[in-house]
Amino acid sequence: MSTATPSRQPVTGTAAAPRTRRPLLLDLYGTAVGKKYAMAISGIALMGFVLFHMIGNTKMYLGAVELNEYAEFLKKLLYPLAPKESVLWILRAGLLGMLALHLHAAWSLTVLNRHARSVRYQSARDYQEASLASRSMRLSGIVVLLFIVWHLLDLTFGVVNTVGADGEFVRSEVYANVVRSFERWPVALFYVVANLLLGLHLTHGAWSIFQSLGWNNPRFNAWRTAFARGFAAVVVIGNISFPIAVTIGIVSV
Ligand code: HEM
Repeated sequence: MSTATPSRQPVTGTAAAPRTRRPLLLDLYGTAVGKKYAMAISGIALMGFVLFHMIGNTKMYLGAVELNEYAEFLKKLLYPLAPKESVLWILRAGLLGMLALHLHAAWSLTVLNRHARSVRYQSARDYQEASLASRSMRLSGIVVLLFIVWHLLDLTFGVVNTVGADGEFVRSEVYANVVRSFERWPVALFYVVANLLLGLHLTHGAWSIFQSLGWNNPRFNAWRTAFARGFAAVVVIGNISFPIAVTIGIVSV
């Protein structure tokens, strides 16, 4: 009598698909859970950036010297141990990588959801809540992305900024660049609107992080809502205060 285990055929088409060896993280990213983790981790990194960027920008309330010195300090992080601007470039590369991951995960989760949900949710209330949140996330995300493009052309490259006294955009004159930009009321208004939408995005996003990472115990649901709203409020109030301060003349050249 043979003792060999009878060979079993795969039960699904998926199981029969040839398996190629991929790095573990890529394999994980291939699943919906992995993409949600990627979304949450990149979201946390981007939240860290917007918070510290806002805190750094409050230096403009101390004057031109303070804000310009702060920008110079960022360039000199770990200098002379590391070459000037090297740490800043590493941080920029990390930030860009996190943004790319966040966008890719968002896009591929949307595609996955569309394929998976051919039948609508049966509960009308759940369906409405889910669709409102996800629709506003996509819209606010796209506006924030367009804002970032404008913002870099405005304050980093000076392409859409008005020129300085000598007719040239001087990158290191951060304070003057910000004031000149916000002195144009349509630009100030755009910054306010974009940052309000950033706030909406952060409120939903910061709340969803806990869901994505599986930390959604009902015992701290009220706490995570408070955290998400509080975080978004701090970033938004800080950010919109800058164009408002220039418009009403509290900050000027
Ligand atoms: C009213 C609010 C804001 C002000 C006053 C502001 C100000 C600035 C300034 C002055 C710079 C150029 C710094 C330099 O070249 O040294 C800058 C760069 C940048 N800002 Fe903002 N910012 C604001 C909001 C935001 C928001 C909401 C985001 C993202 C969602 C953002 C993302 C960036 C990025 C990615 C850079 C380039 C950083 C780098 O090249 O190192 N900013 N911002």
